[in-house]
Amino acid sequence: MAYHFLTLEVADRVATITVNRPDKLNALNDATVADLGKAIEEVRANGAVAGIILTGAGRAFVAGADISELRAKSATDAYTLARRGQEVFRRFETSPKPVIAAVNGFALGGGCELAMACHIRIASESAKFGQPEVKLGVIPGYGGTQRLTRLVGRGRALQLLLTGEMVDAQEAYRIGLVNRVVAAGESVVDAARAMLQQMLANGPLALAQCIDVVNRGADVAIESAGITLLKGDLTGILKARTLSRAVMRNIRQNLFFAFIYNALGVPVAAGALYPIFGILLSPIIAAAAMALSSVSVVGNALRLRRVNL
Ligand code: COA
Repeated sequence: MAYHFLTLEVADRVATITVNRPDKLNALNDATVADLGKAIEEVRANGAVAGIILTGAGRAFVAGADISELRAKSATDAYTLARRGQEVFRRFETSPKPVIAAVNGFALGGGCELAMACHIRIASESAKFGQPEVKLGVIPGYGGTQRLTRLVGRGRALQLLLTGEMVDAQEAYRIGLVNRVVAAGESVVDAARAMLQQMLANGPLALAQCIDVVNRGADVAIESAGITLLKGDLTGILKARTLSRAVMRNIRQNLFFAFIYNALGVPVAAGALYPIFGILLSPIIAAAAMALSSVSVVGNALRLRRVNL
């Protein structure tokens, strides 16, 4: 696929997306956001890719939304731009393949927001982070207010958001904004690659499930998150390619027959699925059990399709 403002390389199951507009410190103009959207779709769909690194060319990761473009926008245009950016960033966040932001320099405004949409942030010693939008009289539009609060807590998030101050890599590490700082002279991309290889030695479905339940769990009350976990585990077990073929065949057959029985809607089938209940319970209760089972089987079948590795 052709990109205007980024490069995309795949090697050893890792895709490296490099925002490549160094003369403007990789500021996010419309075309760069569009490129990022295309790139994340491409790597999510590419079966040869198991992990993703996002970095910037030159001395910046991304220095924010393109201010010169922003100036020319109406309120409606700005709203559309923010929505589009939010959707693209969310595709990074919900990628079933781990995404590491290798923050090589300035990560300001939309750049800090983009790094936060990645699963992990590794920063070079010279990296700088901040949400300076208030200095321009606006607020972070790509979800940064929410992600920053979740990462560093309300007080620290508000401090960064309200002052618009920049913090260095060590401070970002101290407050939990980044996972690791690499020493001067060490390559931040190499460090990201090493961490990814450690992750990719593990089961890909387990990685995808961890990302999914952490994402979903962060958005809901803890009680619901527990239920999410159970569902996630079930999907993981059903999808696990590492299970032996015999086990997978068995599961598929059970699902298939359960589905056929339920689809037929024959009370006898309910009896076959639930031998004791079918005999003992009244036909109405058996029918209710059958309906519940149908929902569960269809739900499982849908979930099976959803994780797209
Ligand atoms: N949008 C558009 N262009 C940007 C940009 C942005 N967010 N950030 C940097 N640039 C451009 C500069 O205009 C300059 O282009 P020019 O050489 O054509 O004039 C080039 O990138 C280099 O930036 P410069 O300011 O000269 O580098 P610096 O080292 O002196 O300062 C920063 C670096 C990051 C501190 C400074 O560029 C800055 O504050 N940028 C804006 C950050 C920001 O507010 N982001 C949030 C936007 S909502």
